[in-house]
Amino acid sequence: MKYGRIAGWGKYAPPKVLTNFDLEKMVHTSDEWIVTRTGIRERRIAGEGETTLTMSVAAARQALERAGVRPSDLDLILVATSSPDYLLPPVSSMIQDRLGARCGAFTLVAGCTGFVYGLATAQQFIASGAYRTILVIGAEIISRNIDWTDRNTCVLFGDGAGAVVLQASDAPTGVLSFVLGSDGAGAKHLMVPGGGVAMPFSQRVVDEGAQYIRMNGREVFKFATRVLAQAAIEAVEQSGLTLNDVDLLIPHQANMRIIEVAARQLGMPMDKVFVNLDRYGNTSAASIPIALVEAIQQGRCADNSTVLLVGFGAGLTWASAVVKLGTLEPARYALWRSIPIRAKARARAAVGALSMRVGAMLLPLAQRARVTRR
Ligand code: ACO
Repeated sequence: MKYGRIAGWGKYAPPKVLTNFDLEKMVHTSDEWIVTRTGIRERRIAGEGETTLTMSVAAARQALERAGVRPSDLDLILVATSSPDYLLPPVSSMIQDRLGARCGAFTLVAGCTGFVYGLATAQQFIASGAYRTILVIGAEIISRNIDWTDRNTCVLFGDGAGAVVLQASDAPTGVLSFVLGSDGAGAKHLMVPGGGVAMPFSQRVVDEGAQYIRMNGREVFKFATRVLAQAAIEAVEQSGLTLNDVDLLIPHQANMRIIEVAARQLGMPMDKVFVNLDRYGNTSAASIPIALVEAIQQGRCADNSTVLLVGFGAGLTWASAVVKLGTLEPARYALWRSIPIRAKARARAAVGALSMRVGAMLLPLAQRARVTRR
């Protein structure tokens, strides 16, 4: 049995910040309403020139560097998104090309749960022995599918990307168990009605604003509080662990009230729950990987921590996974990182000065050789 160790991780958030106070000037809403109903204070919005491709590549490069993996070492790239650059080609192939990888790539659509679906899928390729090194990305630019005059949706979402590199390992790390769920009966509660083959892009789509996300927030809220805790419990049971063994719960970052209900149902104290939705809003398929990366960066996860990922989203879908982190400091970088920054700068300067001196010594020799040749 081969496990898929999380060997590298990275994230990208566009620099442009949109606060609740900015939104107050755009729609009839208030910071107070948004904070008390959702917990969100600000979100990142992709700027001109930023796309799901560029954000994914930025997050992926970090994850690859962290793992010490070259793009040419990848066996597969898997991208979870509901906001690809184009309907065709798949953004996963564009990412493969931009990274300089030579491997298969595919895009997976499962709403906000896409990243956990992707992680579970990648794990199967590794467990079967088919592949050894897989890049999994969750990336979204939901802001471009939003009606910025609709206060029911525009206050909720943000843009970003997160990525992890899974590497085959014999040690029991990575995805230990997972649960994937779908209930298409609730599809109508969260959808973009226009632009697909059911309602191809046309003047009618524009007139009806059917290219934008439509959501029945109350129904999605009820659904989320019904499935989250249950999905989390099932994944933990399958892993052979108990909830007490879980070091950190990383839920989909959609709404603070949904997270609190789930934590309560699980009997998890909030200090064991990771939350960053106040700064990013709901970044859909990017939300769990961005949260995972930040949890690691903020020291909320230690070597060999057990984290429980759980999400819900369009479909309607849900997904959970118990993930055992391995050593968080890759061996080949640990030594370099342990050197103080000033010492590294001095070393770089010394190498630069040395190469200048060698260059200056070699120049007369090169000139003499040129004269001799003439
Ligand atoms: N500012 C001020 N008032 C608002 C706003 C706003 N931005 N949005 C809605 N309201 C109003 C409503 O019009 C309503 O007014 P009314 O009573 O006069 O009709 C009132 O506030 C209450 O509306 P509710 O829908 O009952 O508010 P609720 O407490 O349910 O919160 C929310 C709404 C935040 C959308 C909540 O239902 C929610 O978070 N649902 C889950 C949504 C979600 O997570 N979606 C993402 C799924 S993941 C994916 O795949 C993309």
